[in-house]
Amino acid sequence: MSKKYLITSALPYANGALHLGHLAGAYLPADIYVRYLRMLGKEVVWVCGSDEHGAAITIKAKKEGISPREIIDKYHALNKATFEQLGISFDIYHRTSEPIHHKTSQDFFLRLHEKGDEFEEHFIEQYYDEDYDQFLADRYIIGTCPKCGHTEAFGDQCENCGSDLSPLELINPRSTLSGKTPVLKKTKHWYFKLDNHTEWLKQWVETGVLDGKQHHDPKTWKNHVLGQCLSWLDGGLHPRSITRDLDWGIPVPLPEGKGKVLYVWFDAPIGYISAAKQWALDNGKNWEEYWKGDDVELIHFIGKDNIVFHCIIFPAMLKAHGEYALPKNVPANQFLNFEGQKFSKSRGWGIEQHNYLEEFAEFPNKEDALRYALLRNMPENRDADFKWDDFVDYHDKELADNLGNFVNRVITLTHKYFGGQVPELKIDLQDKLADVTALTQRFTEELDAFSFKAASQTFLEISTYGNTYLQDVSPWNIYKENPDSPVIRECMFICLQIVGLLSLAAHPFIPFTSPRFRKLIGLPEVQNGDWAELLHKLENGLAIVPAGHQVGEVEVLFPKINDRRDTSRLEIVNRQKDKLAAILAAEAERIKNAPAAQELKTSEVTNTELPALKEVIQYEDFAKIDLRVGTILSAERVPKADKLLKLQVDLGFEERTIVSGIAEHFSPEELPGKQVVVVANLAPRKLRGIESNGMILSAEEPDGRLRLVSPAIGVSNGSIVK
Ligand code: MF3
Ligand code: ZN
Repeated sequence: MSKKYLITSALPYANGALHLGHLAGAYLPADIYVRYLRMLGKEVVWVCGSDEHGAAITIKAKKEGISPREIIDKYHALNKATFEQLGISFDIYHRTSEPIHHKTSQDFFLRLHEKGDEFEEHFIEQYYDEDYDQFLADRYIIGTCPKCGHTEAFGDQCENCGSDLSPLELINPRSTLSGKTPVLKKTKHWYFKLDNHTEWLKQWVETGVLDGKQHHDPKTWKNHVLGQCLSWLDGGLHPRSITRDLDWGIPVPLPEGKGKVLYVWFDAPIGYISAAKQWALDNGKNWEEYWKGDDVELIHFIGKDNIVFHCIIFPAMLKAHGEYALPKNVPANQFLNFEGQKFSKSRGWGIEQHNYLEEFAEFPNKEDALRYALLRNMPENRDADFKWDDFVDYHDKELADNLGNFVNRVITLTHKYFGGQVPELKIDLQDKLADVTALTQRFTEELDAFSFKAASQTFLEISTYGNTYLQDVSPWNIYKENPDSPVIRECMFICLQIVGLLSLAAHPFIPFTSPRFRKLIGLPEVQNGDWAELLHKLENGLAIVPAGHQVGEVEVLFPKINDRRDTSRLEIVNRQKDKLAAILAAEAERIKNAPAAQELKTSEVTNTELPALKEVIQYEDFAKIDLRVGTILSAERVPKADKLLKLQVDLGFEERTIVSGIAEHFSPEELPGKQVVVVANLAPRKLRGIESNGMILSAEEPDGRLRLVSPAIGVSNGSIVK
């Protein structure tokens, strides 16, 4: 049997709109990959849908005074439509409120329950709101974070420092329902014995071996993904409760489970299975071929906050069930920031996908301009920063000046010299296209490796190659002397092949431009299998665009944003920049006009005891310290050392191992992707047997909390700090 690709993207909660960071994290990369697989002629299904359970949804409904059903119907429709408008080509966008999903999840639960040794049951003490007569899900309890002091931490997680919490750890807990301090009461819950799965999980993650067979090659997994998994595994796995006292969700299918539902993170990933089932029903396929057996290529696209669920917990659930395939790769992305800061709905910082589409309604090719900008700056291995100036530059300098210009010149000249027909020619195409073929192979390998940013760079290189080649030959000069010169024919023939190639390669990146691009070169819209055919042609020296083929009419594919004669596009972008400037100005104003707060702030600082200054040093002393910017690639705890973390840091020119005494302040999961300042010329030192090569800088608050010293915006690794 041939391989079956099952691609998944994280199911978004149906309680809000999605912003550009989500798009760049789990949906655009998957769309590029899936379009590429389809061009290779692979059998692939890409599933996604709304995650419609969980306390976040009931809380939002309560706040707005409507039912959870109204919330999920609204946001399911919005998110589904928005994805479609951005060309995100899911094969199905399903819902976890569908009966087929409830049944699939309950059957899954029962199967593990029947195995006898996958679950344990516990009576636990849980917070209960007496005014409301109900147990409180973790999200319904707010209190002070024991790790960072943030006063609005949730019972399951602190959004300030990212720590995983349990409600019992919160200081001064209060119920979000009544606002009162909740009481503890006994309740029964089911736990998945994740710890039973430690050994094989470790082997599977570390070596890719599963049941004695090589399942995948761990070298193909991203460093930061492996780093997070290993640090979790090293920290030890524990049973995880998979039921909740909540009236919204999938009922626990046992008599003793009355009034309880499955935990949202238990049912949501099973949504990938139910979505595939529904897709198969709708399309006359057999879903089991895509979920069972050795030929399944299961790939999860997610953001880094979901790594543990997709690389450890869900695989353990699948293995415990026994019938399902495990993921071959989980190419998680890191986070996207927005103009130097985190996306923040409350501050209005950032832009949601549907708002972008509305505000750019008059902007030609708005979908591809956005997709391309996000692709070129994708947070694949570290956090990235979206900037409107970059958005303009990527479009104008790369799409318009490089790609558009090349394609335009080639089509225009083909009309001028040959009446729009690809010239007849006998040459050794394999030899002439050797460089382009090599670049195309690299492009293919990069897509295979989920390195989409690199693939887009290679794509541009092919276009640059074409431009340079055309410029080097300059057929227009020869044409003046000898319009029939074979040099012109050869040059144009080669260029037309490159344009044909680019028109296919561009398709996964900019699918809205793709049909116009194809029309320009006189080819039909991209079909499944086209890329496989192109690779075959390149290998065998066959023309991509054969002699005699008629190209289309000249059309400008990418009208520049920065255009003096027509400023309408730049104005649309500038409105976004103005909006951000207004937010910053209003915030600055608010601080200025709040003298009380201002006073409090300064007095807070003077009240605490800051250490006295050290003795004066000369500039030469300072200049001896070589400070560099680096990015933390991975972090793991050092066994039997509570304070130490072992960090892998990318310094641009090399990778370093640095052992740092920050384990009490940061969890290993929150560090990968963060930029730091490193003392790069510190003599190596052994700590707990590990050689540490340098030190990372942090600032100590007067109360002892640590903050990493980090450039405010992304800086190239290796940059000197002075
Ligand atoms: N709804 C979750 C989130 O947005 C993701 C769920 S992914 C799934 O973080 F695997 F559970 F489906
Ligand atoms: Zn915290």
